[in-house]
Amino acid sequence: DTIEKGGFDHYMLKEIYQQPKTIADAMRGRINAKQGIITLGGINEFENRFLNADRIIIAACGTSWIAGLIGEHLFEDLARIPTEVEYASEFRYRNPIIKNNDIVLAISQSGETADTIAALELARDRDALLYGICNVVGSSIARMTDAGSYIHAGPEIGVASTKAFTGQLVLLTLMALQLARKKGTISSSYFFQLLNELENIPAKVESLLQNDAKIKYVAQEIKDANNALYLGRGYNFPVALEGALKLKEISYIHAEGYPAAEMKHGPIALIDENMPVIVVASNDSTREKVISNIQEVKARKGKVIAIIKEGDQAIEKLVDYAIEIPDTEEPLSPLLSVIPLQLLAYHIAILRDCNVDQPRNLAKSVTVE
Ligand code: G6P
Repeated sequence: DTIEKGGFDHYMLKEIYQQPKTIADAMRGRINAKQGIITLGGINEFENRFLNADRIIIAACGTSWIAGLIGEHLFEDLARIPTEVEYASEFRYRNPIIKNNDIVLAISQSGETADTIAALELARDRDALLYGICNVVGSSIARMTDAGSYIHAGPEIGVASTKAFTGQLVLLTLMALQLARKKGTISSSYFFQLLNELENIPAKVESLLQNDAKIKYVAQEIKDANNALYLGRGYNFPVALEGALKLKEISYIHAEGYPAAEMKHGPIALIDENMPVIVVASNDSTREKVISNIQEVKARKGKVIAIIKEGDQAIEKLVDYAIEIPDTEEPLSPLLSVIPLQLLAYHIAILRDCNVDQPRNLAKSVTVE
């Protein structure tokens, strides 16, 4: 057991720390940065279907569903393909409109989630092209889809998904970039910029993991909270959802993720001095807006923990605790910003004496509907 944990106390921590490597492994052999070529075999095989797709419908559950929300941004922003993200469990029970020019993309770490399998069966009956992003090789979803891509993250043992999530994000990014390049929906210079930056991500993840001591300190400060609110915008709104999901899964603190601007339509009523608010504030495009959201929280005495871009002293001065991450291109920013949130949830759970690798009532793979 100790050997399998590779010197870490828990599988979850090991898997968080594996991410520089698993992110690199998800790209390996798929990028030719010099020539500007991305090759995902599954897409090549059905290139025309992808280039002429009216829509991509992503069906998934849990953390994989949250990866899908970021996929929606990537496909729409970069490849200009209308995209919808569905909870697999809801999709199959509501007579959805699926056309034969649609692509149904299932995202699943295990490849065995019953609701995701059922969603694919429905889509298959309606002649959509089925694509899978899976981790487990030879799993049911990998076998039942027309084509797909593995994330190659290696076995994920911790029930709360970490490295599979970032692997899924890499694949979604590669898919969106390959299609954007083929469709000419982004400029060649931006394409190369994103491609080069994608290759820098593993080293940036490595460097941000060195902030772990600071994250542990912040965990100590908020471990006794009963509730927590996570805020983000744009590409980082789903990251707020994932941060909240990680916290509730393993520490049993009730947490909600919200689009930062939507806070004033509800959660702001909950804010007082006992409410930690974790804000992903590392995006340039929404920086000013997020600053005013932070001020709204501070005005109500909420405790703000912000994920900021390295050197952003203005936000650092406003908040109670700031955790820095390296600068990157916005579409790639979730790959960095999610990692401190994974660590924060981990440390809080440990401080609360919770079983992080096997939280109560949860299963790694949910094979019942
Ligand atoms: C369970 C796991 C989650 C996972 C979800 C979807 O709830 O505890 O970590 O995100 O299932 O699993 P999948 O294997 O389809 O990604």
